[in-house]
Amino acid sequence: MENQHIIVRVATPDDIHYSNTITNEMESSAKARGTGIAKRSPAYVELKMQEGKAVIALTENGEWVGFCYIEAWGHEKFVANSGLIVNPAFRGHGVAKSIKKKIFELSREKYPESKIFGLTTGLAVMKINSELGYEPVTYSELTDDEEFWKGCRSCVNFDILTSKDRKNCLCTAMLYNPLEKLKEAEEKAMAEKAAAEKQPQLSVTANGHMHHERRRRRFKGNIKLYERWLRFKRFVLLKSKKEGGATGSKKKFFLF
Ligand SMILES: CC(C)(COP(=O)(O)OP(=O)(O)OC[C@H]1O[C@@H](n2cnc3c(N)ncnc32)[C@H](O)[C@@H]1OP(=O)(O)O)[C@@H](O)C(=O)NCCC(=O)NCCS
Repeated sequence: MENQHIIVRVATPDDIHYSNTITNEMESSAKARGTGIAKRSPAYVELKMQEGKAVIALTENGEWVGFCYIEAWGHEKFVANSGLIVNPAFRGHGVAKSIKKKIFELSREKYPESKIFGLTTGLAVMKINSELGYEPVTYSELTDDEEFWKGCRSCVNFDILTSKDRKNCLCTAMLYNPLEKLKEAEEKAMAEKAAAEKQPQLSVTANGHMHHERRRRRFKGNIKLYERWLRFKRFVLLKSKKEGGATGSKKKFFLF
């Protein structure tokens, strides 16, 4: 796949020499953002490349541009596309979007029945996820696999997560549910068929009551709504933290 002379493809064992560059950039980007250092070892990145569960972006000359990998949780009921990172020199040109699309396709191919989810504070990622069909969900809809949640321990906001009994934190949870998508596609096809046949939009049940389907709120592409939601979460969660209500600790200072 080409993107401004950038190749986005499934990583192979031949790419393992990029692992140190990738993990170093993950660490320095996390520090720069003031978020948790979700530290991944070069060995872990190499394993993902060997397993064919990673996507890498490179220039035609072999310069490293970006990376992302797949993790499966809860006996493969859930899949997460994690560790998205783009070389700062190549940001703002749609690289993350191409990587996320590729890793999403790879996840669907490898785990067609799994729900795909992500936790993020990044607007760019929320935007890309919603374009791929993810919907914002509560944390209760995510995996309860302890190993996944252990990954949050390195985040500066981990005490907020624990004080909220893992029900909320600053990250927004987003989920792609393949079963729901199938249902939606079927409903859409039926609605289109009904419209083509000029059938009434409301259906009447046997007891004479009119029935109309509850419409879910669509976040797709509504970045302003995401921004407001993030500000609201920060306000509520960090305010209670500052007041000591959530954790009783006032020691840490957070940057966003
Ligand atoms: C976040 C990151 C992956 C984005 O990479 P990128 O290649 O610059 O992103 P893209 O160019 O593909 O942008 C995708 C969309 O997000 C938007 N976007 C990019 N950066 C953004 C930002 N900081 N804030 C808001 N929107 C942003 C773009 O405008 C684009 O939207 P559009 O399609 O409407 O134009 C990159 O900045 C990065 O590696 N950051 C550090 C690591 C990180 O935060 N990873 C995510 C962890 S969840």
